[in-house]
Amino acid sequence: MAGRILIAYISRKGSTAEIAQAVGKELESTGNTVEVAEMKKVSSLAGNNAIVIGAPLYMGRMVGDVGKFVGQHREELINVPVAAFAVGISPVSKEAGSVEYGMKKLHSSLTPLQPVATTLFAGRLDPTQLSFVSRKMMEMAKIPSGDFRDWNAIASWARTLPTLLRV
Ligand SMILES: Cc1cc2nc3c(=O)[nH]c(=O)nc-3n(C[C@H](O)[C@H](O)[C@H](O)COP(=O)(O)O)c2cc1C
Repeated sequence: MAGRILIAYISRKGSTAEIAQAVGKELESTGNTVEVAEMKKVSSLAGNNAIVIGAPLYMGRMVGDVGKFVGQHREELINVPVAAFAVGISPVSKEAGSVEYGMKKLHSSLTPLQPVATTLFAGRLDPTQLSFVSRKMMEMAKIPSGDFRDWNAIASWARTLPTLLRV
């Protein structure tokens, strides 16, 4: 079975957006119709058989708009299978917090949804994209910079989704 899937993401510096596109490509390759859209531009979820939510962790929390999106579309989201991914530096740096903590934050941002799949992907921290203050904060906290996105791991996770999302 194939269906329509919306991947709604938030991205401040672009790395989550590219992960959302990569997940979308995998889902399309299994015959699904996929729309990858910035969360703030999504006004309705009508017509989708499944939703994937993706957003980064900043300062120990999921960016706030995830909770807002879930609140706004709660009735529709409760009635379709939902998968979600967080993006952060914690998978490669314990100084950025534990993966368990990041996963807890992802789940609480999705409340009251019961996602069929969740994960936390390593993201990208590019010092040239940061303000002076953020860059200094990262240096002081010994947070590593670089692009840590594992495209194989992202594609593998995406390939598990059609069964879980029932599309
Ligand atoms: C100011 C700042 C705070 C961050 N805080 C966290 C954090 O608490 N936990 C984490 O795992 N990653 C943290 N990160 C890393 C981001 O989640 C990572 O860079 C991610 O790839 C950003 O996604 P985006 O490019 O889509 O905005 C932080 C990055 C910045 C610049």
